[in-house]
Amino acid sequence: MKIFILNGPNLNLLGIREPSIYGSKGFSDYFEELIKSFPSIELNYFQSNHEGELIDKLHEVGFSCDGIVLNAGAYTHTSVAIGDAISAINTPVVEVHISNVYARESFRHHSFLAKNCKGVICGFGFDSYRLAIQSFIS
Ligand code: DQA
Repeated sequence: MKIFILNGPNLNLLGIREPSIYGSKGFSDYFEELIKSFPSIELNYFQSNHEGELIDKLHEVGFSCDGIVLNAGAYTHTSVAIGDAISAINTPVVEVHISNVYARESFRHHSFLAKNCKGVICGFGFDSYRLAIQSFIS
């Protein structure tokens, strides 16, 4: 089984960025933990701050891998184009967020992606990614 984790804008700064919301661990350390936790899954990781690059990556991997875990960051709340890209591909996508977006500002309560996704997981810290991977196994 092959799964891609795609992280969007500002998520390259995890560990530094607003640690009271996103924690103080960098994503690369957590990604290594995920690889160890799921030895039978081929896990891949891509991060971009650019909407078009995220769309290109969805097109590139979205016809061949088994699952995509997508944290589109703030593009979740603004991007019709990423929502359309999720509809355009074959691979199921799970939308994830580290924080509980529903406990935050109201502009974070709407997602342009969610209705095109298999499901949405938010508010479990980095373990939102782990839960999303587990949703593809079973
Ligand atoms: C986020 C929540 C978004 O509202 C925010 O813009 C992010 C991170 C999260 O993982 O909690 O960049 O997607």
